[in-house]
Parts: sequence; C-alpha cells; structure tokens
Amino acid sequence: MAVKVAVLTSGGDALGMNAAIRAVIRSGLAYGFQMFAIFEGFRGIFENKIVSADRTFVSEIIMRGGTILKTARFPEFHDNDVVSKAADNLRFYGITHLIVIGGDGSYRGAFALSKHGIKIIGIPATIDNDVMGTEQTIGFDTALNTITEAVDKLRDTSSSHHRCSIIEVMGNRCGDLALYSGTACGVDLIISPEYRPSEEEIIETLKNINLNRARHALVIVSEKQYENLDDLRKRIVTETGFDAKIEVLGRLQRGGSPSASDRVLAGRLGVYAVDLIANGIDNVCVGVINGRLSHQPIAEVTKTTNPNLDELLNVIDKLK
Ligand code: F6P
Repeated sequence: MAVKVAVLTSGGDALGMNAAIRAVIRSGLAYGFQMFAIFEGFRGIFENKIVSADRTFVSEIIMRGGTILKTARFPEFHDNDVVSKAADNLRFYGITHLIVIGGDGSYRGAFALSKHGIKIIGIPATIDNDVMGTEQTIGFDTALNTITEAVDKLRDTSSSHHRCSIIEVMGNRCGDLALYSGTACGVDLIISPEYRPSEEEIIETLKNINLNRARHALVIVSEKQYENLDDLRKRIVTETGFDAKIEVLGRLQRGGSPSASDRVLAGRLGVYAVDLIANGIDNVCVGVINGRLSHQPIAEVTKTTNPNLDELLNVIDKLK
C-alpha cells in the first residue's frame, strides 16, 4: 500500500510557499506516495478540508505569491481534544505523514500532532527568519528585497523634503528583516530587538546627521518595538531639524512573486523533506546549516528562536 503523505501551509504566508508545496507533491508522487493537500492549515485538518493531489494540482504555481492552500491562524489547536480529533481525521484518510510548511508557531502545532502518532516533517517558511534549525527561512529573501526596493524609493522623496523616514518593517520580535534591510540600504539607524539604541542616542545621531548637512535620514525600525512610534517621530521633528514621517510597510512585505533564491530554497527543502520520509526519518524539521541541507528533531526546534546575528551586528557597527 502506498505511503500517504499530506501537506499544509500555516501561519503568515511567505513567498515561496507555493514552490515548496510543488516540490513536496511532485517529489512525493515520484516516490509513488499518495499525496494529499490540506486547505487552511491546522483548521483544515480539523474541518476535513483534505483533498488528493496529483501533478497538475501544482502546475503554474512556482512563481505565484501567497499559498494556493490558504493559511490560517488556529489558536484552538492549543486544545488537546482538537489536536486529537485532527489526528483522527488524518487517520481516516490513511494519512501517516504530514509536512507542515510554516514558522515556529506552525511547528508547535505540528509537534502537538506528532504526540498523537502523526509523523511530521517541518519546512521553515516565514518572512521573519526566526525559525531554529535553519539559517534561512523560505520567504525571507523576497521580503528583504521588497523592503530594499521600498527604502530606495523612500530615500528619493526623503531627500527632496529634507525628511527623516522612519520605516517600520515586520519580523514579529525578530530583527532579521530590519538588520538585513538596514545593511542592504545603508540606512542611518536600525532599531530592532537585538540593536536597540536609546531615544537619546537616536536623537543625538539624527541631530549630527542634520548638522553634517545630510539631505535626509533613514531609520528602519522593527515592528512591536514602541508602544507609540509617533511619540518618537514627534521628538525627531522638534529636536533634530528634520521633518519626519512614519512609513509602515505592513503586509506589502508578504506579497509579490518569490525571488529566485526563495524558489530554489523551497525546492531544495521540499524535496529533502520527502527524501527523509522515503528514508524512514520523521518528526524532524528541515533547514540549511552552513549552506547544507540538514534536519533536527522537532522537539528541539520548537524550543527557542534563531539567535545567530553577531557577525551582521559587527558589520552594522563598523559601517555606522
Ligand atoms: O509571521 C509573519 C508575520 O508577517 C509577522 O512578521 C507579523 O508580525 C505577523 O505575521 C502579522 O500577522 P497577520 O498578518 O496574521 O496579522
């Protein structure tokens, strides 16, 4: 009897999720597995939104943003009875393996299901880049490029108006998007959970930039850092000599077409996830470490988030 494998996407959508779905379905079929797709993440398992997937199910999606399987946040999955019912639904179809494409919250849902006998493989996909067990998540590169393009454009208008643009980027308490985009754009200041100048330092830095006759100032700030970012903006206006505007990039960062790099990463991780199942390995999350594909037990990966930023922080410090 064919091994039955299902795939879902969960959490915030990330560019490259479709490429990962495609890689999983096509490589599973190549192994002779029977492949299933689940709509709307963990809620879809609970509500039985499960369909059989063939090769054409994933045609023409590699370049598309969003996720063809839709996604959902499903807090009810903290309830053990809900998880147990979801596991029963999978068993009804004979599904033994589930591939979960998502971020750390999705991994926690997957881990809960593994305790009910479903064999799990996690594939890291979130723009936040905050998943343990991988150096890069699917979606991070595209979001980073989107931010970079937006900041380059804001630089033009900021110069014309002698303005400080305070650009808020996503990251959900992980500063990677801010730190990498700030480095890519050579901005004047980055404010993130890992790199948090005081308000006095911020004002002092911007004052000096103004005294040096700069035409603009660019500040990138991670979301969720200030209760009211507008208070900081007002201080900048009254104390530094720059006009100041806040630009929240928001969910724009999750749209568009995935970059080549995200598509390739998705393809590598998707195929690797299925290779592991074929080799009898499960309850692990896949990732790239030192440029190579690797996997770690899901129990380890659900513990903390990705901390390794020292080298980049050094670059930011030297280029100030
Ligand atoms: O996890 C991805 C992410 O885009 C975070 O950066 C952000 O904090 C969150 O999702 C927003 O989620 P939602 O679109 O569900 O409000």
